[in-house]
Amino acid sequence: MIRGIAALTLLLLLAAFLWYTLRLSEEPLDAPAANPPVPPPPASTVLTGGPGHTPMTFVDSQQCRQCHAEIYDEWSTDQHATAYSEPNFQTFTENYTRIECLSCHAPKPMLETGIENDPLLRDAGRISGVDCLTCHVKDGRVHGTLGHTAGCDGLLEPRLKTSQACYHCHHTHNLFKEFLASPQYKEGQTCQDCHMAPVERALAKGSPVRKTRRHFIHGGGHDSEALKKTLTIDLKAEGRKLTVTVTNVGAAHGVPGEINNRQIRLEVSVLVKQKETVQGREVEMENEISAWKREFMAPPRLARDKIPSTQIMPGEPRAIEFELPVDHGRIEAVLLYKLEKTMLLGEAVEMARAELKF
Ligand code: HEC
Ligand code: HEC
Ligand code: HEC
Ligand code: HEC
Ligand code: HEC
Repeated sequence: MIRGIAALTLLLLLAAFLWYTLRLSEEPLDAPAANPPVPPPPASTVLTGGPGHTPMTFVDSQQCRQCHAEIYDEWSTDQHATAYSEPNFQTFTENYTRIECLSCHAPKPMLETGIENDPLLRDAGRISGVDCLTCHVKDGRVHGTLGHTAGCDGLLEPRLKTSQACYHCHHTHNLFKEFLASPQYKEGQTCQDCHMAPVERALAKGSPVRKTRRHFIHGGGHDSEALKKTLTIDLKAEGRKLTVTVTNVGAAHGVPGEINNRQIRLEVSVLVKQKETVQGREVEMENEISAWKREFMAPPRLARDKIPSTQIMPGEPRAIEFELPVDHGRIEAVLLYKLEKTMLLGEAVEMARAELKF
């Protein structure tokens, strides 16, 4: 009897084992279909921290693409990715012969140079501009804000969560000085808050969803949506005095930026209804009787001490007064953004528009 139960148990155990191993052997069949082609990293680098562990080493941003494809694609459309390769840069550096221009556009990893120091020009792979290695890698090891060693063997670099992450290349002009004096800085905002939009997603294929940021470091002069939220125009007429106030509400630093080719143009027109005779009939027309222009821009780099800047500082209301030539009419004002001061006005981005009847 006991032998019978033992035999039955053994049989059941054998059946369970067979069922289990069969199931196991099925699993690898669907796994590759669900998770195609990323080759696993070498076994010795998957588990970290243990004795004899060899850390993963990285020498090329292409390696990151394998696992962080979405972040890589975002970065590829960004100005940082084309900082070295874009035609303008090639032209202005006289085909890369002006060596003094190259260091910020193809820098060595900033964590190796030291964030607080000026960038150093790297020797190889300059074409990928400001790439993944520039911001994340030190001595071949990935650094991030999670600070856990899974995935690509990441180490903690808390400064990547702060504006210091941008200091290395963006501190040479006045931008940081302006930022530190801005209301946004005092409220605790960082460069990332405006230039790296928050998003919830998996950082790598098969990883958990996390609160993180986009790598399209947008919001600059090439982003027309950001430009439309940067400045406001306010019009006030008292008697014959017109006050046009342009306020920097959207940027935590001077607007436009400090590259001297940017230009913002304010155009103000005064329109009045006038009776005119057209083909023998009297008609009412609205005609422009006065037009004013103002330009806002940074002075050329070398003349900074001589030519005053007309950039609009964060939170600053810039009030400009004009003398109205009539008592009644309509005012139209528009702000136009030109990436290059030689750009045609028709190609400029409209930042803001206002109208007033007086
Ligand atoms: C200290 C770092 C640094 C150096 C040195 C440097 N640049 Fe730049 N460059 C930048 C940064 C940062 C930006 C983006 C700044 C901005 O948009 O306000 C930029 C932007 C540019 C752009 C893009 C302009 C556009 O229209 O988008 C060009 C072209 C350029 N630089 C050319 C040069 C040339 C030519 C030199 C040498 C005379 C030079 N850079 C030296 C950091 C540097
Ligand atoms: C100009 C600097 C810069 C470049 C270039 C850059 N990153 Fe980042 N990256 C950052 C910053 C800053 C953060 C942290 C943002 C935040 O506050 O959450 C970040 C966050 C990340 C994260 C999320 C984990 C973490 O540490 O917060 C991953 C993954 C990542 N980057 C991968 C990449 C890859 C891959 C590339 C190249 C395709 C790249 N990055 C290029 C600056 C950069
Ligand atoms: C073999 C796949 C793989 C490769 C290759 C890879 N990563 Fe990762 N990485 C991951 C995974 C998985 C995580 C963890 C994601 C999570 O837990 O949300 C991660 C995390 C990170 C983090 C956060 C690190 C931390 O601990 O703070 C950063 C930053 C990052 N990767 C950047 C990069 C960069 C830059 C490269 C290329 C130099 C790269 N990764 C290459 C898979 C990879
Ligand atoms: C290693 C150097 C470096 C670091 C670090 C860096 N940048 Fe840049 N950044 C550049 C260069 C160079 C350019 C000019 C690219 C070009 O040629 O247009 C640029 C351009 C920009 C632009 C202008 C885009 C446009 O539309 O013209 C913005 C915005 C920007 N960076 C924001 C940031 C922020 C935010 C950080 C920090 C998270 C950061 N950068 C970190 C070098 C850097
Ligand atoms: C409150 C939002 C905000 C913050 C914070 C902010 N910026 Fe900007 N930034 C903007 C807007 C809006 C623009 C577009 C207007 C312009 O280009 O003049 C811009 C433009 C830029 C440009 C491009 C200028 C050009 O000429 O193309 C650079 C570079 C830049 N920011 C870097 C930074 C850095 C570095 C920090 C942190 C020190 C920072 N920004 C903080 C909103 C912000």
